[in-house]
Amino acid sequence: MIQKKQSHSSFSGQLGFIMAAAGSAVGLGNIWRFPYLAAKDGGGVFLIIYLVLVLTFGFTLLVNDIAIGRHTQKSPIQAYEMVKPGWGFLGRITFLVPAIIMTYYAVIGGWVLKYITIYFVGEWHAAASSNYFSSFITSPISPIIYGLIFMILTSVIVYRGVQNGIEKFSKICMPILLFMIIAIAIFSLTLKHTENGVTRTGLQGLAVYVIPDFSGMTVGKFLSVLLDAMSQLFFSLSVSMGIMVTYGSYVKKDIDLNHSINMIEIFDTLIAFLAGLMIIPSIYVFAGKSGMSSGPSLIFVSLPKVFNAMGKIGVIFGAAFFIMVAFAALTSCISVLETLVADCSEIFKAPRKKVTLILTIIYSIATVIITLGYTVFYFKLKLPNGTVGQLLDLADYLSNSVLMPITSFLSCVLIGWVVKPKLIIDEMELNGKSFKRKNIYKVMVKFVAPVIMVILFLQSTGFWQWLLRF
Ligand code: PHE
Repeated sequence: MIQKKQSHSSFSGQLGFIMAAAGSAVGLGNIWRFPYLAAKDGGGVFLIIYLVLVLTFGFTLLVNDIAIGRHTQKSPIQAYEMVKPGWGFLGRITFLVPAIIMTYYAVIGGWVLKYITIYFVGEWHAAASSNYFSSFITSPISPIIYGLIFMILTSVIVYRGVQNGIEKFSKICMPILLFMIIAIAIFSLTLKHTENGVTRTGLQGLAVYVIPDFSGMTVGKFLSVLLDAMSQLFFSLSVSMGIMVTYGSYVKKDIDLNHSINMIEIFDTLIAFLAGLMIIPSIYVFAGKSGMSSGPSLIFVSLPKVFNAMGKIGVIFGAAFFIMVAFAALTSCISVLETLVADCSEIFKAPRKKVTLILTIIYSIATVIITLGYTVFYFKLKLPNGTVGQLLDLADYLSNSVLMPITSFLSCVLIGWVVKPKLIIDEMELNGKSFKRKNIYKVMVKFVAPVIMVILFLQSTGFWQWLLRF
């Protein structure tokens, strides 16, 4: 067994680990992508597929990352080399993912902060107009300032350390987030609105969300729902970006990984489900079935319109919503920066506080550059997956669509075929608890997950669509 060095950080216990890891997993993906996919992909049909995948495929990737971290007690840059000499290159590829994500995460976090202020300074009617968001992100100073504030908030928490910063913050933040999302979801089910003589209610919106809609379900459509669910899931669990390896390395050897991993899965899936419960009915009531959009435009354009249409209560609803989103984004951003801090402290053998300061300076500059991607550095690029984007979308595409499937694929090959799953299974059973989903895990890590990763990679690079033409 590898002895833990005295200087290595750690979580104080199981709860701290679960809250921090769930904080990383629960992020913008849960809020702005999951509800959209559920509405688009036949409501309950998507929910069922997603649930099955969480328990098999998502679980396998989460186990890989966390167990590798705990086994080696190293950050990703060294962990893979330690698992199998010669595989250090995988650590270096994995390092690139948070290094890229960090360039733009604070930019989006800044947008969320801006939208919180809108509800406090009474600008929320203006925010309901269609071009408010685009004129904000293309304005010269304001998005930079908000982005930098978000960056500094993240850095302050990471600077305070694993136990005093990340763990303490997550333990406060995650229960508040859960409480707020439940409250908003319940309220959104009580909504009612009449337009052109047609009344739509929140409960009808609930039906759109949860009742499986098989109409028009062909084999091709089913496959596309499957792909949507797979890509959403692995992004949502924060796997394959080194984050869960880093957090895993802070878990003490006497902690039961089985229970912790179950809790992280439950937390992430529950919040995604609740996000749908809060967003789908409110959009349905005020904008009908076709009102759902995905990504930034869902929360920064469509929802402010809904909050405005709600009348006075919309101010409270809107402010609560954006505060909750800020919590979700902050705990995710913290996990990205922490992974970089852990990696760089090991690479440069430097103290974490110094590394945090230097990374804060570097990523503050990056935040400014990415923000300027909407103005000074504006360009339009057609990405291989068919979308058109600028600097932020390009960074997002490289990290999430290209690098993440590659790291996941390679880590499954490493565990499934090179060092064999026993290494991970032993780590899961270290403190005498049996690894209940052991058999599913073995099949998934050897056969299913690598194939899924190849398909996701082919899809995001455009090859899949090309192959389907034949
Ligand atoms: N898991 C987060 C989500 O679902 C996304 C995330 C991405 C977190 C990158 C950290 C880093 O939104």
